[in-house]
Amino acid sequence: ATQGEYIITDKKGEKGNVGFIQLNRRKALNALCDGLMKEVAQAVDTFEADANIGCIVLTGGDKAFAAGADIKEMKDRDFAGVYNGDFLSFWDRLAKSKKPVIAAVNGYALGGGCEIAMMCDIIYAGENAQFGQPEITLGTVPGAGGTQRLCKAIGKSKAMEMVLTADRMSASDAEKAGLVSKVFPVDQVVNEAIKTAEKISSYSKITTAMCKELINSSYELSLKEGLHFEKRIFHATFATEDRKEGMTAFSEKRKPNFTDK
Ligand code: CAA
Repeated sequence: ATQGEYIITDKKGEKGNVGFIQLNRRKALNALCDGLMKEVAQAVDTFEADANIGCIVLTGGDKAFAAGADIKEMKDRDFAGVYNGDFLSFWDRLAKSKKPVIAAVNGYALGGGCEIAMMCDIIYAGENAQFGQPEITLGTVPGAGGTQRLCKAIGKSKAMEMVLTADRMSASDAEKAGLVSKVFPVDQVVNEAIKTAEKISSYSKITTAMCKELINSSYELSLKEGLHFEKRIFHATFATEDRKEGMTAFSEKRKPNFTDK
């Protein structure tokens, strides 16, 4: 494991093909200061450049996944500064990962913490997880996707209720609402995320990237355009060696040997 100032990175899974990022600023409940998010962006760069890594797991601590953007760091900033510096835009690095990212969330996922979980492709939650967008209590609004991704994940009424009241959503309610795909006991959520990441890593990386790009495009495109794009990418898989290998292996009753080409 590599210990940064605010995060720990490692390679997990039997084949070491899962990139692991643990937010590690416990005293501040993983408040997402600039330095922490820069380390996360660097870790995503590193894992994306590593041909052996097929999937990334992002987690925090047992008490807090992340309690939001760093309020103390933000409190004296002014409009010109945040506007000119495009404050928080570099957080998008996580959302732009071509490789799938699974968030393993225990404890508080508030404000920016909920938002970075939603930048991930799959959210697994521990039974103690609490999701919330409390920005309104601070006189500000969610600024890293909390009004957009949350609404797409759980619909308008629930998103409005969370953003306008600052009330938190429990793990089981988040699962019912579709924000979270599965809930596990606190001590199992990271392992379960790694197991799923290992499974994803066993497939062709080119195919997983295509799946991710297609599902994400459904947020941006009309159904007609999305179906057209899907068809074209489906056709494009016929230009890959892994598509041929996958179908040949099925026919020969053996496991495929994907080469990510
Ligand atoms: N920023 C900076 N420091 C934070 C923090 C944050 N978001 N959240 C917690 N901390 C710090 C606390 O200040 C405290 O530090 P000290 O020991 O130096 O006082 C330490 O972490 C422990 O926190 P608490 O003592 O408050 O712990 P608690 O168990 O009593 O409460 C909590 C936990 C309910 C999560 C509470 O800490 C809290 O409400 N945190 C703020 C949550 C929040 O408002 N998040 C939204 C931030 S704005 C945002 O994210 C904007 C955006 O859209 C990107």
